[in-house]
Amino acid sequence: LFASVELAPRDPILGLNEAFNADTRATKVNLGVGVYFTDEGKIPLLRAVQAAEQARLEAAAPRGYLPIEGIAAYDKAVQELLFGKDSALLAEGRVVTAQALGGTGALKIGADFIKRLVPDATVAISDPSWENHRALFESAGFPVVNYSYYDAASHGVNFDGMLASLDALPAKSVVVLHACCHNPTGVDLTTEQWKQVVAVCQEKGLIPFLDMAYQGFSDGIDEDGAAVRLFAESGQSFFVSSSFSKSFSLYGERVGAISIVTQNKDESARVLSQVKRVIRTNYSNPPTHGGTVVATVLNSPELRAQWEEELGEMRDRIKLMRTQLVDKLAAAGAGDFTFVKEQRGMFSYSGLTAAQVEVLRAEHGIYAVSTGRICVAALNSRNIDAVAGAIAAVLK
Ligand code: LMR
Repeated sequence: LFASVELAPRDPILGLNEAFNADTRATKVNLGVGVYFTDEGKIPLLRAVQAAEQARLEAAAPRGYLPIEGIAAYDKAVQELLFGKDSALLAEGRVVTAQALGGTGALKIGADFIKRLVPDATVAISDPSWENHRALFESAGFPVVNYSYYDAASHGVNFDGMLASLDALPAKSVVVLHACCHNPTGVDLTTEQWKQVVAVCQEKGLIPFLDMAYQGFSDGIDEDGAAVRLFAESGQSFFVSSSFSKSFSLYGERVGAISIVTQNKDESARVLSQVKRVIRTNYSNPPTHGGTVVATVLNSPELRAQWEEELGEMRDRIKLMRTQLVDKLAAAGAGDFTFVKEQRGMFSYSGLTAAQVEVLRAEHGIYAVSTGRICVAALNSRNIDAVAGAIAAVLK
């Protein structure tokens, strides 16, 4: 049966973890996967999460099946984070939300639902995009194309190119947009540019699919929700996949959500019924733990305030690492990396080539994605000098 099965390549991001774990060098540094580490090099267990977990343990709640669309209090809290508590769309019942297995699970539910709805659609992702976007939509049966996005020369967005690419897409193409903290480049659109993207999607009848995995890592919860709010104001239907992996440091609990904006309450009921079919045939219904923890935190004023404070600490530490990296690279003679300070979120598109990334790994034990993406959130006061020195060395 398996004689002709070929060995698949390692995942470009998660595969790095496997290689990193097998590396015996004590000085190794993992700047590959998008995970936030503290200055001590640990994945934090947030205090707000600990408190919610404690409460759950004490309640000794039974573990029955959740509804197919997940915990109602969780879904509502997700909607309020994404669209704002006072959103007219929420009041009108125009948002359908289902708990999902992380942001990836949310993308897959959305993709499978769209495949039933518009089987011949093309999916457009940014050039470059998160590696798994292409793989995920292709495995859901769509052809995937790129729209122009990153401009390496300016370390910014090729916005004219982006608009031209979107404008050339056939109606009902799915456009996957990074709502904030673009992965892998760290380069985001301005509010003015978002307004133009919203307008093109509307004029051309495209299907916007906003991927929001890093809300709170750029400027704050509401600030980072700006793109979602602009799409909401435009009146068009769209999709949002969201994740608490990063913002709650709950990577392994797989806590995300798919939210779909419809035109009215009646559409919402029908859309939800179809989304439930997609979920039921994939994994039946979501797990209880992560969703309960997040819902408890978001629905308790004290825990919510604590979480926002902790999220702010993570955001500030990443910004500090950006500044220090730029300074240390300059001091090590690596050149001007000021652009790293302008990038948002966990990642920096460093400009390193695949060959340079390989030398970083082989000679210095520093792991990065072969595209040159480094996770700035994994830098700390103990490894940053070595990282800056190694980057300077490979650039010489
Ligand atoms: C990343 O891009 O590193 C993260 O989103 C983790 C993942 O699943 O790839």
